[in-house]
Amino acid sequence: MSGSRFSLGKRILIILGVAIVVMQFFQIDRSNPPATAPLAGPAPVKAVLERACYDCHSNETRWPWYAYVAPMSWLVGDHVTHGRSELNFSEWRNLSAEDRAEMREEIYEEAAEGEMPPSDYLLLHSDAALSAEDLSTLRDWSAASYGDEAKVSPAPQLRQAAEQNESKNANRENGASGSEHEEEAGESGH
Ligand code: HEC
Repeated sequence: MSGSRFSLGKRILIILGVAIVVMQFFQIDRSNPPATAPLAGPAPVKAVLERACYDCHSNETRWPWYAYVAPMSWLVGDHVTHGRSELNFSEWRNLSAEDRAEMREEIYEEAAEGEMPPSDYLLLHSDAALSAEDLSTLRDWSAASYGDEAKVSPAPQLRQAAEQNESKNANRENGASGSEHEEEAGESGH
């Protein structure tokens, strides 16, 4: 046997190299199907969502270079498949008005709680971080009544309530006082 030809370290490197090459044969599906029922607006809301959410929650994914290199590509593919199945802005108008209203609230909640966009995504996409202004845009949208989702221009008192709650949301972990105010804001929008 030729066991002495390569040191243990070299053998491990060769095995790793072969494994990485073999992994490349398992590519993910990077297709972007047509957006059949896309979210129509309002423009400021769309801008926030496009910047921070569309990579995983639409058919307009901007596939990064590491989506072409296994094993990172598997993680990206998993995020996108899973993300699209939960919420897809390219198929938004297929949802009923009730479901859209519910989803708008959930969107704001996930964003305000810092659950979305996911923190590992933010590591590589710092431009997707949400500012206080982005959050208040999403909050106004979530408080808009059923028919107003596409043309929301919140009443002044609504915007005020949103701004007052901004600071409260910052210490959400300390107490759950924010949610009552949220509902008040929602009521006054109807
Ligand atoms: C890196 C990919 C990625 C990005 C970017 C992303 N999401 Fe998600 N999102 C997911 C995945 C994966 C899930 C499903 C698993 C989970 O809930 O963690 C999900 C789930 C959700 C859900 C459903 C939660 C539920 O309980 O059903 C909402 C709402 C949501 N995301 C909103 C957003 C919003 C709003 C943004 C942008 C501010 C965003 N996401 C950005 C990957 C992403």
